[in-house]
Parts: sequence; C-alpha cells; structure tokens
Amino acid sequence: MYQVGIFGEKLSHSLSPVFQNVAFKYCQIPALYEVWEFSKDELYERVNLLRKPNSLGANVTIPYKELAYDMVDDLDETAKQIGAINTIVNNSGKLKGYNTDVSGFIRSLKEIASFDPTGKNVLILGAGGAARAAIFGLVNQKVNSITVANRTVDRAVKLINDFGVDQEIFSILSVYDEKISEISLKSDLIINATSVGMKHSSMEFESLLSPDQIPANCVVYDIVYNPLITPLLKSAQEAGAEIIQGLWMLIFQGVDSFELWTGKSAPVQNMYQKAMEHFKSLG
Ligand code: ATR
Repeated sequence: MYQVGIFGEKLSHSLSPVFQNVAFKYCQIPALYEVWEFSKDELYERVNLLRKPNSLGANVTIPYKELAYDMVDDLDETAKQIGAINTIVNNSGKLKGYNTDVSGFIRSLKEIASFDPTGKNVLILGAGGAARAAIFGLVNQKVNSITVANRTVDRAVKLINDFGVDQEIFSILSVYDEKISEISLKSDLIINATSVGMKHSSMEFESLLSPDQIPANCVVYDIVYNPLITPLLKSAQEAGAEIIQGLWMLIFQGVDSFELWTGKSAPVQNMYQKAMEHFKSLG
C-alpha cells in the first residue's frame, strides 16, 4: 500500500482525504491519503519520512508551506518563484516541491470556464496568501493588467512589490474606493480572495460588489468555498456573468498533486462530486 497525506497544524476539516481517496480508488491505485497533524518541531523529521519506498509524497498546508520549501531536494520553477510549496513528490528517495495552488488555479479557469487569462484584464479583491497564488499564476499567463483592491492598501503595495515583472501591469486601490465600479465594469475576470462572504464570519452575507458593478461578459471567481454560492457569486449570477465556485480551486490543486504523484489523469468530476457531497453533509 502506498502512503500519501497532508501536513498541517489544524486539519480536522480538511476535504483533501475525501476527494484524494476517491481518485486513488477510481484509478485502482493501492494508496491511502491520510491526515498528518503535528507541530512545527516535527516537520523536518516528517519530511524525511517521505523518502520511504512506499511513500508517494505529501500535500503541505498552513503554516508549513514556506518551511517545507527549504527542506526538499529540488523545486519546480513556479514553486521557486513563489517561495512556498503545497506538494512534495517522492522520486525514489529524492523529494521535489511544487506549488499546485498556482497551477491548479490557472487550470480551473481554463477547464471550468474555458477562460484563457493571456491578454485579459483582472480585478482581484484581497492581498493575502490566496491573492498571492492567483496573481503568480496570472502573471505567468501574461495577463494584460491586474488591479489589486484591498481593505489595507499598504498590504497590496507590499504584495505587488514581490513580483519581478513590469510593475505597469498593476494598479492598486482600496476595496471601498468608489472608482472600483469603473474598473470592475472593464474586467474580464473578477476574483474574490478576501474572506468576505465566508460562512460563520461577520461578513457572511456581504458582497464587495453588487450586480450593477459586474459586467455580464466576465467570469467571477470566489475563492471562498463555504458557502458554495457566496453573496458575490449570487451578484454575478444576477448580472448574467459566468461563475466559478471556490471549491474548484481546492479540487484543482488536488488534481494537479494527484497527477504529479501518480502520473495518471485525475477523475476531476468524481473528486468534485465527492467533495460536494461530503461538504453538504456537514451542513
Ligand atoms: P488568505 O491566506 O486566505 O488570503 P489572509 O492572508 O488572512 O487569508 O487574507 C485575507 C484577505 O481578506 C485580506 O486581503 C484581508 O484584507 P486586509 O489585508 O485589509 O486584512 C481581506 N479581508 C478580511 N476581512 C475583510 C473585510 N471585512 N473587508 C474587506 N476585506 C477583508
């Protein structure tokens, strides 16, 4: 039996074992995906255990994505650029780190909405970790422009300074600036990478954009996946725009990890279906 799993600190709600184990079963690969919760001082030892012959590797989540980056033998180009990994692959005792948050995000745009980011204008709400992964992917895809709108404007300034590309593609403003309508209405892609709209938060029923601020011919992606249809996605539907649920970002980082571990095509729809069923059963 092959072993694989997820490294993290608080993993009781992780959906990854649910959809990864379905994928292994579907592809008839004798592997078990487990949850490996431990504290920081164990990380080095745990990473080294991944070199065993029956280990496929692991996923890595908060707060270990940057620390694990320094512990692998080799890094994929995207991982190198972003300075964090969420996937480790065991190649006969040598460990290689990847960032499928970035690759999975771009793949979800292409496969779920047939959206090709090259040359497009993007508005991204938020400047945290999720925004960072999305922006790295979009910059690599050579978008035309990215506007980062954040509550704390300074944080957006710091974020874009990390990108060693032509800074002219970026604009920054406050998420509460009235000018946001002007930008949103010219966008091909709008992404919410803030926690606004998240279930059980104080902003659960809020959307940063109303239907009249969303053009009908754009794609709206909410990285929040609980609820499946957030207030922003409701506004987008009302505006006639195409939507992508945040659950797809989670699924596609897993799809890319699965394919790196196994070399097989992941059963994307089965993984999504299983995750959704599980998620709904939680209420
Ligand atoms: P993640 O890693 O998921 O991106 P994060 O780093 O905590 O999480 O970032 C959360 C994002 O949601 C930030 O952009 C945050 O804005 P600030 O940088 O100003 O904190 C944004 N956010 C959280 N609560 C918000 C609110 N009530 N209104 C607007 N933006 C909010």
